[in-house]
Amino acid sequence: MTVRSPAVLLTEIDHIAIAVRDLEAAIAYYREAFGAEVHHREVVDSDGVEEALIKVADSYIQLTAATRPDSPIAKSIEKRGEGLHHIGYRVDDCAAALEAMVAAGATPIDAAPRPGSRGTTVAFVHPKGSFGTLIELVQE
Ligand code: CO
Repeated sequence: MTVRSPAVLLTEIDHIAIAVRDLEAAIAYYREAFGAEVHHREVVDSDGVEEALIKVADSYIQLTAATRPDSPIAKSIEKRGEGLHHIGYRVDDCAAALEAMVAAGATPIDAAPRPGSRGTTVAFVHPKGSFGTLIELVQE
């Protein structure tokens, strides 16, 4: 068995998620300001969100809006307003990365990896214990 340090598990910034109230307005703004087009758009029913991904090199800006009032994004906007919501770190092995983070003292939100958008496998880790950053581990 190969023992890898958590640093080796990180392969890319997968996405930076920005919570927005009006997805169409945010898409229009990114188009106008950066000439950016939406690369992928998806409603994730289980999370109560609709996301629009704008590609930046091999990473994405993920504009994320709530599709229902009890969605985590709706609660976040209500509490903290629009803005930076979480960072998605791309990893080769979501389960191994989650295990390494928990061993390092992180508090998992997802006890085990689960399906994310774009057919990815993801797990969220609580900002408490991760220096105030909500982290999503993303395996393609
Ligand atoms: Co995400």
